[in-house]
Amino acid sequence: EKGGYEHFMLKEIYEQPRSIRDCLRGRIYPNEGRVQLGGLQEYAEKFKNIDRIIIIACGTSWHAGLVGEYLIEEYARIPVEVEYASEFRYRNPIITEKDIVIAISQSGETADTMAAIEMAKEKGATIFGVCNVVGASIPRITHAGAYTHAGPEIGVASTKAFTAQVTVLTLIAFYMAQQKGTVNHSKMVELLTELDLIPEKVQQALLADAIIQEIAAKFKDSRNCLFLGRGSGFPVALEGALKLKEISYIHAEGYPAAEMKHGPIALIDEEMPVVVIATKNSSYEKVISNIQEVKARKGIVLAIVTEGDQTVKAMADYIIEIPDASEAFLPLLATIPLQLLSYHIAVLRGCNVDQPRNLAKSVTVE
Ligand code: M6R
Repeated sequence: EKGGYEHFMLKEIYEQPRSIRDCLRGRIYPNEGRVQLGGLQEYAEKFKNIDRIIIIACGTSWHAGLVGEYLIEEYARIPVEVEYASEFRYRNPIITEKDIVIAISQSGETADTMAAIEMAKEKGATIFGVCNVVGASIPRITHAGAYTHAGPEIGVASTKAFTAQVTVLTLIAFYMAQQKGTVNHSKMVELLTELDLIPEKVQQALLADAIIQEIAAKFKDSRNCLFLGRGSGFPVALEGALKLKEISYIHAEGYPAAEMKHGPIALIDEEMPVVVIATKNSSYEKVISNIQEVKARKGIVLAIVTEGDQTVKAMADYIIEIPDASEAFLPLLATIPLQLLSYHIAVLRGCNVDQPRNLAKSVTVE
């Protein structure tokens, strides 16, 4: 059942080249610079005039939502708000018939997400679902949507479902951009051609597993861990921290790298591991200065870097390389080593990786 892997989580991490490929199948036509999302087709016109999108979700799905915000704003130029379903439903949020709500849920059964959908629906919003489990409750109450096609996810810690959610949100962002004309044809051809290669790049990112296992052995007795990233690397940092805390019970926090000096920097000493997303993209230089700030306080830096990087390598205590990619696809690649890191740390600590204490795969109570 576990296909030769010791745990479902590891199997699911390794399935990602396949699950992302399945998620893209029949939806992208790189040569034509075209995205096709069957479920959204009847709303295609609506995208031209919408004022904003609200994304609602919980946990890891909420992190995928933050990546979605970055991508939709960048490419489709539509303002996005990302909300925890549990907060959204208990406020008195301003929602109109003009709004599009995207609800993200692996299980399609999360109680808070369902209640938030019902509320937004009553106020007249159009609801799209991004779900993994086919025929679950959420896909049945939404107006339209797109499945993530990641296949069954058994491990309580979400891995392949997250990357599939990010993939669908990337497609939604590109689809909306296509309808609105905010990305020109040749750029779209370029983006889709690169997206088509992401499953292979994820496969390459998995090759760092042995190195990650060694690094995990150094970090396994840590009591705390900080994860830092900027731009779309910030949700990756949040997701890395959540993975670590839920399966290894090490206290971890994700922060936007620049926020560190507004508080968390006080925590840094020679015992504090700091995982930094430091790939070569628009915030590279800024992240380098954040690494210097950590090193000046003797923190232990593990940097996720672009293959071949020398600058960060010279500064960090440990590095993990991922293949080079445009910023749009960074979250899909940078997440992989963080999943493996938390997995190996949890295994070394003797934790129940697939069924961590106190957690359920789907949270059907509020
Ligand atoms: O099924 P959902 O995507 O709605 O679940 C949301 C969260 O409960 C879920 O992502 C949770 O945070 C996972 N344990 C994360 O690994």
